[in-house]
Amino acid sequence: MAKSPKAPQPGNTDRRIDALLTLLAENATIVISGAKIAQGIGVSRQAVWRWIQVLRDLGVRVKGHPRTGYHIERIPDILMPQLLSHRLYGTPFARRIIHYFKANSTNTIAMQLGDQDEPHGTVVIAEEQTAGRGRAGRSWISEKSAGITCSILLRPPIVPAQAPLLTLVAGLAARDAAAEELDVVPDIRWPNDLLVKGKKFCGILTEMHAEPDRVHFAVVGIGMNVNQSKMPPAIADIATSLRIETGKTHSRIEILIRLLRHLDRYYNEFLEKGPSPILRRFSEVSSYFQGKHVRITTSTEMFTGITAGLEPSGVLRVLRDDGRGIEAVISGDVGDA
Ligand code: BTN
Repeated sequence: MAKSPKAPQPGNTDRRIDALLTLLAENATIVISGAKIAQGIGVSRQAVWRWIQVLRDLGVRVKGHPRTGYHIERIPDILMPQLLSHRLYGTPFARRIIHYFKANSTNTIAMQLGDQDEPHGTVVIAEEQTAGRGRAGRSWISEKSAGITCSILLRPPIVPAQAPLLTLVAGLAARDAAAEELDVVPDIRWPNDLLVKGKKFCGILTEMHAEPDRVHFAVVGIGMNVNQSKMPPAIADIATSLRIETGKTHSRIEILIRLLRHLDRYYNEFLEKGPSPILRRFSEVSSYFQGKHVRITTSTEMFTGITAGLEPSGVLRVLRDDGRGIEAVISGDVGDA
C-alpha cells in the first residue's frame, strides 16, 4: 500500500507541497490534470489526491473536477519557496529558500545552517515561530501567517567592526519594501526599528559568527507585522501592523520579494562603494539621524542626549545632556527622551 504523505511539521515544508502549491498557483485560471500534477511534483498519479488533501488540510482551497483535474480557488498568501525563487531570479536569495509552517526561530535555524556551510543568500522563512527572538534577549511574537518572519544568511567579506552597517542595510531594505504599502512615510529608529506614527511594525535581529578580523557569516532576522488585525494587549500601545495602519490586508509575498530585492541592491552597493551611500540614505529616511532628543539604554547605563549622525561604521553619535560630550553608541535601545 502506498504510504500516506505526512503533514510537513515540525520539520521544514515538504518539497512536494511547495511544488504542488506553486503549480496550482501559477496555473490558477485553468483546471490542471492529475497526470500533469503527478509529473510536476514527482509523485504517482494515484498519490495526487492525497497531496491535494494535505494542501486542503493546510487551509488551501482546491476544487476537484471529476475526470478533468484540479484548480486552486484562491491563491493563499503562503510564502512558498518556489513561488518566491521564480520572482527572485538574479539575486542570491533565489537559490536556497527553506520554508517552515512552524519553527522555533528562523534566526536559530539560520545560525545552525551558517555553521553547516550553507551558502550565502540562504533564506529561512516560518509561517509561525514558537520561540521568536528579539534584540536584548526579548522575545518576538509572531501570529501564524500574519507577518513576515524570515532570516537571511549572509557571508559578507567585511570585518566585524563593519557589521552595524549590515543591520542598517537590512533596515533600509525593509523600510523601502514597507513604504509602498503605507500612506504615510515610515521612520527608522536607529539601528533598524521601523515605525509608523511612532509605533513599531518591524524589527531586525542581526547575529554573527566572527573572528576579530573576519566575519564568517551573519544572519539578518526580520520580523514584520503585516496582516495582524490587533496587537497583543501588552504591546498594543507601542506596536502596530501594516493592516492596523491602513485598514487593508497586504500581500506578504509581494512585500517579501520587494524586501529581498532591495536587500540585494543595498548589500551590493555597500560592498562596492562602502558605507557612504548607506549612511546618506539612512540620513534621508530616519528622523533619528540627527537632532533628535533621545534616551539611550545600554547594558551598562542610561542617558539622554541629542543625536549627531552616524560614524562611518554605522555607530550612532549622541551629544550627551550631562555635558560629557559625544558618545558613540555601538548597541543599545533608543527611545524618545
Ligand atoms: C527586535 O526588534 O527586537 C528584533 C526582532 C527580530 C524578529 C525576527 S522574526 C525572524 C527572526 N527570527 C527570530 O527569532 N527573530 C527574528
